This record gives sequence, structure tokens and C-alpha cells, in this order.
Amino acid sequence: MIAVIGSTNLDTVMRVGHLTEAGETSSAKGIKQYLGGKGANQAIGVAKLNSECCFFTSIGNDWAGRFLSKKLSEFNINLYVRSSNDLSGQAFIEVSDEGLNKIIIYSGANGDLYENFIFENSEVIEKAGIILLQGEIPWDTNLYILEKYKKSHCVILDPAPANVEMLAGMGEATYITPNETEFSILTGRQYDSLDQMIAAANSFQKRLGAKLILKLGENGCAYFSDSESFLVSPVRNLKVVDTTGAGDSFNSAFAVALERGESIKNSIKYAVLASGISTMREGTSSAMPTNDEVLAFQKELGENQPELIELEEAGKYLEHLRKQ
Ligand code: RIB
Repeated sequence: MIAVIGSTNLDTVMRVGHLTEAGETSSAKGIKQYLGGKGANQAIGVAKLNSECCFFTSIGNDWAGRFLSKKLSEFNINLYVRSSNDLSGQAFIEVSDEGLNKIIIYSGANGDLYENFIFENSEVIEKAGIILLQGEIPWDTNLYILEKYKKSHCVILDPAPANVEMLAGMGEATYITPNETEFSILTGRQYDSLDQMIAAANSFQKRLGAKLILKLGENGCAYFSDSESFLVSPVRNLKVVDTTGAGDSFNSAFAVALERGESIKNSIKYAVLASGISTMREGTSSAMPTNDEVLAFQKELGENQPELIELEEAGKYLEHLRKQ
């Protein structure tokens, strides 16, 4: 069983030509509301891939909360919901024609997910083999979970949204999975090139101790651990519609494959395929693929599967990317 502990948000998604710049007023071409939040997305991702999932979250006692609870109950997930007096969490999302996004979240009820709720539900969490965490609940709660379960469970922490406060304690996770923006925030600097970022990620992992999966969007991802490091190429020529939630889809699929006993390499490839599918659909939880869809996509790709590139070969691979 996989335990997901995290946020639930009402996502208000606006389609825009380009992402709004500072000082600019722009018009949305369309607007839709979905069940979202990194926690809910990851729980739904796990359930759609046929793994048993329990989800611990906090939802407000408002109209949005009623909508979110109803939507969540449509999936095969064991729900443990704390009812909060605050408003339900919300996310205001812009998605551009290229499928890129910009997100503002109002944490609301998610900010009430305290360690006592985890303590009260310890018996269930203890039965899980893998725990998925993200950055949309109080960091102290994540720290409590990391401390409590670091020896007994595989804990996959998505430091999203990232904050330097996370540096104290995130090394206790088994895996951390930032994207490029989050990695820049965590390391306190911008990178001029992918080569630079990959070199920095390699030393960051050595300092941190936790295994690191750096999500590189259209450039795939990179894995670093004490014993091995490699890059995984993306799926080429995807018809990207919306990248929102692709990171959540990646984490769910990675956890599901690990739970099935797959190797790290195969688990990452499975996650690249699942998140690739999610970028070709609108929304977040609604975009998460089923296991049959991932397998069908893998078959359809034939020889164009995500490829594994050893870190020593990374220079050549990055050169190849630059020429594309
Ligand atoms: O990762 C995507 C999610 O980020 C959205 O569903 C939104 O709610 C924000 O939490």
C-alpha cells in the first residue's frame, strides 16, 4: 500500500496565450475548475495505476470542500480527511498555448494538517511500504513524518513548492524529486546551462545523502545516488497540452513501480511514460493515466522509449540536445 499525505486544492485553470508578465493584464480564453493539489493528484495517480492507496488530507467545510470531497470519493482511495474551519485550499493556474504553467496557491485548510492527525492515523500509515510527501502542508508535519518513518518506510518527498526551510530535514527522505525551478530555489542560484545544473545536482546529492531525481521537463530527468547516477531522456514529440501535474504523475508512477519491485531504472522510465501521457491532456488528476494506458503508450512508442544515459556520457547527450 502507498500512503499519500498532502494537500487538496480546488484548481481554477485559465487558458492564456502566454503566461502573464509583471504589470500585464491579460484575458483568459477559457476557465475550468478541477480537483487538484499535489497530494490529491499523487493519490489519484497511484489509484489509477492500480495500487492500493490511502490519502491523508485536510479540506475546508465550504462549497469548494464539498466539491473536492465528492470528486475524491469517485476514486478507489481510502480517504482520511481532516475537516478544517479554514477555507479549502485553492490554486489559480495559468496554462499557456505551449502548455506551460504558472501557479499561485492559497493553502487554507492544507495549513491545518498537523502532526496530531498523522499520529492518530499511525496504525494505517504503518501498513504502507511507501509514503509520498509534497510541500503544500506545514513543513513541521513533513519533518515529523520523515523522522517517524525514515527507517521503516521508503519516503518520496516532492519539494514542491520549494523553500530553503526544507533543507533542514529533507535529507531524511529516501528520494527527493525537485524540478529545475525548485532545485534553483533549494540551492539558492540560477544555472546558465543544463551541464551546470547537473554538476550542481551531483554535489547536492552527495551533501544531502537522500537519492535525488531532478525533473528536467522536456529534457527528461537525472538520477543521483551514492552508488549510481544517470540521465533518462524524455519521450520525444509529445503533443503537449498542459504540463500542470506532470510532476505529480511522475511521483505516483515512480512509487507504484517501486512498490511492484521494479528496479530504480525501470521505475523512472515508467514514471517518464506516465508523466508524458499526463502532459498531453488537460487538468491534473484528470490527466493521470491508468496502468493500461501507460503500457499501451509504451508499446506504441516502439523503439522510441525513454533512454538511459550514464552520467559519464551526459556531455555528449547534452550536446545532442543543444543541436535539436
Ligand atoms: O502540481 C500541480 C498542482 O499544484 C495543482 O493541482 C495545484 O493545485 C497545485 O497544488
